[in-house]
Amino acid sequence: MRSSEYKLRYRRPLATPVVYDDRANASMMSVEKLAVHDFWNAASCGEDLYLPDSSKEGFARHSQTRYELEPEILQFAEFAAWRGKQVLEIGVGLGADHQKFAENGAVLHGLDLSERAIRSTARRFELFGLQSELQVADAEQLPFPDASFDLVYSWGVLMHSPDTPTTISEVVRVLRPGGTTKLMLYHKWSFVGFMLWTRYALFRLRPMTPLIDIYMRYLESPGTKAYSVGEVRELLGQFEDIRISTGLTHADLLLSPAGQKHRGPLQSLARVVWPRWLIRRVFPRLGLFMLITARKPTDLAPLNPSAEPPRRS
Ligand SMILES: C[S@@+](CC[C@H](N)C(=O)[O-])C[C@H]1O[C@@H](n2cnc3c(N)ncnc32)[C@H](O)[C@@H]1O
Repeated sequence: MRSSEYKLRYRRPLATPVVYDDRANASMMSVEKLAVHDFWNAASCGEDLYLPDSSKEGFARHSQTRYELEPEILQFAEFAAWRGKQVLEIGVGLGADHQKFAENGAVLHGLDLSERAIRSTARRFELFGLQSELQVADAEQLPFPDASFDLVYSWGVLMHSPDTPTTISEVVRVLRPGGTTKLMLYHKWSFVGFMLWTRYALFRLRPMTPLIDIYMRYLESPGTKAYSVGEVRELLGQFEDIRISTGLTHADLLLSPAGQKHRGPLQSLARVVWPRWLIRRVFPRLGLFMLITARKPTDLAPLNPSAEPPRRS
């Protein structure tokens, strides 16, 4: 069974109990993708730190913490602008942004490589009485016909997939001509990268270790990539009207427990002496998040013009 065929169609009320078979989904993945899958299937992004439990209150608390720490999401996603539009979110994780799209009336599809993430988001949607077509699927093989969506949104996901250029081609393919993508990818020249490099390259007397290797090995799932603005422009070559911004995040400013995996005396000391004021003033662009908005040109021919887009009532 291909991972893209392993679907959870979620509508409220749930007609039949959903049976998940994580191994069946994972069995068709490359070694690299399996490592990514297993990393996120062990715990979704923010689950250990910000999701107290899987109750309605727990999910509400998770969302509250998320938007306190990452308020840039609210402005960037423009949740209210997508009412009545066909929206796909790739990599829903615990489903906080997905919930915002649903509450604002988008016609929603959501997917994630990890069954755990889909389970959590399905539970969140059930508790809040929201609707989305959720499924376990792979960003490198989106299970949708060409030209299906007005918006493809993905926050902190595509650089985890082993073949990021293919995920971008898939985004182009499933967007309608003139459709928009909003992506957050990791920015190479960030304080997070600098801190990791100091700890895992400089202090280990391996200063020649490329920054990119540090991200791949130590940031999150194995093989995670980070890009310069120029590299992302190249990656998004098929798009037009590309807008990219970078800014400092809670992780760059050591304002949250996000870097717990790397904790130790040095991190504790850094938290106390970190020159946040100076960093904000002198290096406001050296943050981990690269926020990207781009449009699919109207004259880019669909790969399969006869395919019907998905429809939901
Ligand atoms: C850093 S988390 C972000 C989750 C969510 N967007 C958020 O902001 O909390 C990365 C997510 O990407 C998912 N992911 C990684 N590779 C993927 C792929 N090829 N296809 C779909 N999802 C993928 C992971 O399972 C994980 O849930």
